[in-house]
Amino acid sequence: MLTRQIISAQEEERKEISRELHDEVVQTLIGINVELSALSKTASVGLHALRAKITHTNQLVENSVNAVHRFARELRPAVLDDLGLIPALHSYSRSVAERRKIKIHLTAFAGVEALGNAQRTVLFRVAQEALTNVVRHAHATQVRLAISAIPGAIRMEIADNGWAFAVERTFRARNPKRLGLIGMKERVEMIGGSLKIESTPGIGTVVRAEIPLASAKDITPAAQKKSS
Ligand SMILES: Nc1ncnc2c1ncn2[C@@H]1O[C@H](COP(=O)(O)OP(=O)(O)O)[C@@H](O)[C@H]1O
Ligand SMILES: [Mg+2]
Repeated sequence: MLTRQIISAQEEERKEISRELHDEVVQTLIGINVELSALSKTASVGLHALRAKITHTNQLVENSVNAVHRFARELRPAVLDDLGLIPALHSYSRSVAERRKIKIHLTAFAGVEALGNAQRTVLFRVAQEALTNVVRHAHATQVRLAISAIPGAIRMEIADNGWAFAVERTFRARNPKRLGLIGMKERVEMIGGSLKIESTPGIGTVVRAEIPLASAKDITPAAQKKSS
């Protein structure tokens, strides 16, 4: 069941990307083509009109370049592998805040980079999904993303000041089209961590993930066999 849910979560993600690719990139490219056709007609009219059209077409190309960059970043941000989780979160939250009317305040305990690659990827995905939910559903004006050290574990919290929702009911509903929260929880639990969500009317929602510091990656395959 777990595998099936992960696979359908991946499918949902793909559908989303494909929809966004269509709406953003393809539409802009079609716009460019229309402009180019108009250009060849304007060419005989005059230099001034021609320049204006070229400037506009440049703008369209720039827009689609930005959109493609954004997709690449969301699929697998290179900065996560090259520079680490904190720079990846900085860059991701900056790009969300620039596009949406929302303030994102990020504080992070540098020791989080000592976690393994798999754990840091999970934390990145949780932050990504939680921020996407805030933007989509919360009507919040501010988000606080904080990574801190607690005894034996790393804690990451994403707290918004938006509308609250019925967390238990949403989980129980097991709507196959709503896999964001379930996907987050499963990813965290797969690496031995825990995820809790608290949503309070008048205050907002907090997503809290805790990843144990001594987790599976520190156990040798032999030790794993012995303990099982
Ligand atoms: N930060 C949030 N603030 C308000 N509502 C939220 C928040 N996060 C999730 N929700 C609610 O929980 C539902 C399930 O979220 P999720 O599983 O991510 O699915 P989806 O984002 O595709 O709707 C959302 O549809 C929304 O109603
Ligand atoms: Mg979601």
